Amino acid sequence: MKFNERVFSGMQPTGSLHLGNYLGAILQWIELQKTHECIYCVVDLHAITVWQDPAELSRAIRQVTATYISAGLDPMRSIVFNQSQVSAHAELGWIFNCVARLGWLNRMTQFKEKAGKDRENASVGLYAYPNLMAADILAYRATHVPVGEDQKQHLELARDIAQKFNNDFRESIVRVGREDGIFFPQPDPVITGPATRVMSLRDGTKKMSKSDPSDLSRINLTDDADTIARKIQKAKTDPEPLPSEPAGLKARPEADNLVGIYAALAGSSVPDVLAEYGGAQFSTFKKALAERAVERLSPIADETRRMMQQPDEIDRILADGAARARAIADPIMAEVKDVIGLIRS
Ligand code: AMP
Ligand code: TRP
Repeated sequence: MKFNERVFSGMQPTGSLHLGNYLGAILQWIELQKTHECIYCVVDLHAITVWQDPAELSRAIRQVTATYISAGLDPMRSIVFNQSQVSAHAELGWIFNCVARLGWLNRMTQFKEKAGKDRENASVGLYAYPNLMAADILAYRATHVPVGEDQKQHLELARDIAQKFNNDFRESIVRVGREDGIFFPQPDPVITGPATRVMSLRDGTKKMSKSDPSDLSRINLTDDADTIARKIQKAKTDPEPLPSEPAGLKARPEADNLVGIYAALAGSSVPDVLAEYGGAQFSTFKKALAERAVERLSPIADETRRMMQQPDEIDRILADGAARARAIADPIMAEVKDVIGLIRS
């Protein structure tokens, strides 16, 4: 059977979202909602794989939701909700804990990075995180998953899980009426945002990240205009003027990053930006970049702040999204149980 195209993606409600999330993921999500059925999730169950302060977690779930919508996700057109409201995620996550192999998870580089040296003390949830992510996607039989580069390995694992489930249960899948024996699709990563890897403003070799201890390393989607301009002013650069050709950005990671950000924000390309700014000093270029960034990002911050004044409205959007998500996932879960041989009422 051919599966209908359906998009699923999510972000964790930990800290505030930043320019990397925006250029690497959200812009792509907004594009896709024009042509596809899209499901966008605030993955709160993923967030608690590391300790979260309860009051701060609730606030962050609402803030990420408000940021999604302020940036341009349309909760009428797409489904926007938080993961823990739809039980299919946790249920299918458990089933996938029984499908995925220890050897597969042992290869996950993100676990190694996040667990660090004290691996014995990491939560079991952090280790099983990619199985829950596979469940997020496959509970809807989603076919397309827009993410940044760093999630590629987890997507591969989701494909392996889908394939193993299809193989392990082939006869049973046919018995429930799927004649080709294919129960889950193999979800494809969509890694084509305008900037799939935005780097830190303090170190062009490190990814811009929520977890960087220096707030100057990233532009948060909640930063006001002055803060955005100041962070760009302070961004690390080298002493040379900008080159006129992309080849001149080699071995200049900070320059490469700032030019890439400019091109993505302006909806232009790196060669075009360099054609305009080649030979310019960073002081000039940073001013232009700050203007672009403020113009693009400060309306998002303003709207997010406005929405955060009305938490009931955000909760209503999440409840509505969760009901629509359940309407898709629950029948699929019922079928999963039939395939496995679990009795349901
Ligand atoms: P995270 O912030 O790690 O929860 O990631 C949420 C989404 O944003 C994922 O799809 C990431 O791949 C993407 N993302 C995070 N940081 C960056 C970055 N620096 N550049 C591009 N995409 C990113
Ligand atoms: N692991 C993803 C991240 O850290 C978040 C995520 C959870 C996700 N479930 C997902 C992304 C399902 C895409 C699809 O960015």
